[in-house]
Amino acid sequence: MKIVLLGYMASGKSVVGKELAKQLSYDFIDLDSYIELKEEKSIAAIFSEKGEIYFRRKETEYLKEIISIKENFILSLGGGTPTFGENMDVILKNSKSFYLKPSLDTLYSRLLKEKESRPLVAEIEPSKLREFIAKHIFERSVFYDKANHIISTEEKTIQQVVNVLISFLI
Ligand code: S3P
Repeated sequence: MKIVLLGYMASGKSVVGKELAKQLSYDFIDLDSYIELKEEKSIAAIFSEKGEIYFRRKETEYLKEIISIKENFILSLGGGTPTFGENMDVILKNSKSFYLKPSLDTLYSRLLKEKESRPLVAEIEPSKLREFIAKHIFERSVFYDKANHIISTEEKTIQQVVNVLISFLI
């Protein structure tokens, strides 16, 4: 089975994906880490040295590579992956997909703490961050909402989210 986790930045895709993979004895792949490994650069360095368009091209290329070559994996995407080119069609055709959806307040408080490491929000003033996230999610929802399942992660522990995912897989 090919399982894909998607959602906005800081929605818990990697942490949930890792735990789900451990419990199912599946390989875990984090698309951002995969890109960093292949490009031998951090995501922040790719954005600043090569620009976002280059990043998006590589993101699509590596998404297709993973989906076509590997079997039985849990793949956590980057927040923007489903929203570019035909990526969401590729995901829907080849995998079972889950949209992890925390509340706006949760995303805001997580991203306020971690924003420096994320190129898309690093430059946003803290006072404008909440509004930026709300608008960005609104624009992206048309893609996120196509996932096979939408899981609200609010007030759930990592294990509870994993349990919900497993219940959809069996
Ligand atoms: C991005 C999200 C990031 C990373 C890049 C762009 C986005 O991944 O791919 O900074 O467009 O939302 P995470 O969702 O893992 O932070």
